[in-house]
Amino acid sequence: MTQDIDRARDAALEAIRTAGSVADLDQVVADHLGKRGTLATLKKGLGSIGDPDERKQAGASMHAARAAVEEAADERRASLGDAEIDARIADERLDLTEHRHAGSRGHLHIVTQAWERLEDVFLGLGFSVAEGPEVETDWHNFEALNMGEGHPARGEFDTLFVDHVPPGGSAGSTLLRTHTSPVQIRTMLTQEPPIYVVAPGRVFRRDTPDATHMPVFHQIEGLVVDRGISMTDLAGTIEAFTKAFFGSGFTSRLRPSYFPFTEPSAEFDIQRPDGSWLELGGCGMVHPEVIRAGGLDPEEWSGFAFGFGIDRMAVMRHGVADIRDMYVNDIRFIEQF
Ligand code: DAH
Repeated sequence: MTQDIDRARDAALEAIRTAGSVADLDQVVADHLGKRGTLATLKKGLGSIGDPDERKQAGASMHAARAAVEEAADERRASLGDAEIDARIADERLDLTEHRHAGSRGHLHIVTQAWERLEDVFLGLGFSVAEGPEVETDWHNFEALNMGEGHPARGEFDTLFVDHVPPGGSAGSTLLRTHTSPVQIRTMLTQEPPIYVVAPGRVFRRDTPDATHMPVFHQIEGLVVDRGISMTDLAGTIEAFTKAFFGSGFTSRLRPSYFPFTEPSAEFDIQRPDGSWLELGGCGMVHPEVIRAGGLDPEEWSGFAFGFGIDRMAVMRHGVADIRDMYVNDIRFIEQF
């Protein structure tokens, strides 16, 4: 796998080097980094590598290969862009107002950037990426997560319901998922343990938008199910993630908390190099009832889970004062990043 990744990377670098125009380069980037590109195709295969060490190593190579190709493309784009602009200025002397610098091309939204960086870091730690639907059943979103009907914790999720009665189901049992935790259940029901997955995705709550809340936002869920998993594995994973994502000057801590789907439960904070603490998300040991709802025997399998917001990552990284600004699509805001 690592050899395939290296080969795909070398092919991409060669194609970038020989691209004759920005348009050619765009095509080369799409062919190699795009959704159906060579590297993306290999990335999809990572999850099926059985051996955890091998998967981890392949994840790290994938991360390095993408970074090398992106950097080479950026450099090539800048030099090709300059040459093309020079030629155009010579050609269209009268139309200088249309002139744009290579640096003002579009780019990914800052939440998408945070989402992809998170995926990359967890791939490097040996996780693969799982997905679930945005329209969920009450069972996956609540019941299977140890929040049966009438559980007080349901009140904390201001749920948006969908007008849809599934065959054999009842009215009000279809909803927009309020968190990414139902992906835990779907993963356990479809994958054999050992399970090491993260599930980034869009979630929904009936909230009035303000500077720190949006009714549509993003979370990333983590789930590990294996034999003999303990709280130490959870703390070590959170710490390794903190250092890989934020930098070696950051550390993490767990504080006791409560979630219905984990026991014991904790909240995790990260400490910045200046000593200040920041609350990041929730985590804990997967509750035996949740393991059982996932079709597994809690006597045989144990695990941990965690979940936190992605939008806040982008807000912190870029110093965004009002979360709503990220979704208005005002070019003056977007162009800053
Ligand atoms: N689902 C929780 C929420 O939306 C976050 C969370 C807490 C996820 C603890 C977890 C966990 O996996 O273990 O607030």
